[in-house]
Amino acid sequence: MIIGITDGVTYVASDVPAILKYTKNVYYIGNHEMAKLVPGEATFYNLDGDVIQKDITEITFSAEAAEKGGYEHFMMKEILEQPDVVKATMNSVIKDDKIDLSSVGLSDEEIKNISNITIVACGSAWHVGMAAKYVFEDLAKIPVRVELGSEFRYRKPLLDKNGLVVVISQSGETADSLAALREAKDRGVKTLAIVNVVGSSIAREADSVFYTLAGPEIAVATTKAYSCQLVSTYLLALQFGLIRGEIEEVEYKNYIKELQTIPDKIQRIIDDKERIQWVASKFANVKDVFFVGRGIDYAIGLEGSLKMKEISYVHSEAYAAGELKHGTISLIEDGTLVIGILSQDDLYEKTVSNMVECKARGAYLMGLTTFGHYAIEDTADFIT
Ligand code: M6R
Repeated sequence: MIIGITDGVTYVASDVPAILKYTKNVYYIGNHEMAKLVPGEATFYNLDGDVIQKDITEITFSAEAAEKGGYEHFMMKEILEQPDVVKATMNSVIKDDKIDLSSVGLSDEEIKNISNITIVACGSAWHVGMAAKYVFEDLAKIPVRVELGSEFRYRKPLLDKNGLVVVISQSGETADSLAALREAKDRGVKTLAIVNVVGSSIAREADSVFYTLAGPEIAVATTKAYSCQLVSTYLLALQFGLIRGEIEEVEYKNYIKELQTIPDKIQRIIDDKERIQWVASKFANVKDVFFVGRGIDYAIGLEGSLKMKEISYVHSEAYAAGELKHGTISLIEDGTLVIGILSQDDLYEKTVSNMVECKARGAYLMGLTTFGHYAIEDTADFIT
């Protein structure tokens, strides 16, 4: 719940966009807190009736950002916003071609002393965690465990006092993720939140916060916040790698340059949307879709598959490509759509061979790869 204040008027709403037209000054009310509202003023109390002081938060995004702006629906608007918001998220920590985590509240000393990372999240944010595991382990050589918030809170996970618990959440209010954060804090483990909504419960309670600058995400199906979360984990992993001496300065600079090309690359994909819409219409009536990939491509497939189910109401699964043959391949039949994700050169041939196994069972193959990998045309029926 939020409480908005302006001259002579007080608003109560469940989220910021509802009242943005009227005020940008809001209070976040927490659990076990009460508020007495009079026009233009709010006073807060704990359950004993003692007054508690709260800071007002000024919302930085505009009312227009939370409106459809002529698009048919919010999800399309938010997909198209990705280049801008990913750039804004990167620019919030890249200063003079270096990553500066001072706004996040993580010191170099703390980063050096982290023994391991536990990422806790739900849904798409958990998929970001699955991708982040590969990146952190690769760049910073820190062991990473990825946990579902809904599982973490109901068991007794082993947590090391020198570990770092990273909670990823767009809303900052997902109950299971919040409970996991509290559990970690109760056990004295340092917490870092990657959150989109300023002032949300997870942002308020975490020891350090990396804010994604996706702006308001109104569509229930996440798109732009997911992309911003993904890039945030890359930035963190890269900085951890440098500080812990796992990557050289030159390599670090090259990675930053590469990261800075991402917004334009996303734009290039968006510019190809007519072609993507064409293939989507061709497969609109498909019964099953399988996403296959290895390593980080598998993690990306998890999100693709969730979007397929959530938005298209089409049954879909994501598989680590090498795992398909251990039983699930029996579900691949004539016309099943298999989308192979092929973004890594070293795993390319391996995944292609798993795609070929699916083709032998009648699957229609789509290859999702980086520009220039034309050889995939020999195997896949459609390339994007
Ligand atoms: O707000 P959160 O990121 O914590 O939400 C977690 C999930 O509910 C969320 O990522 C969900 O899976 C997506 N909206 C699906 O598109």
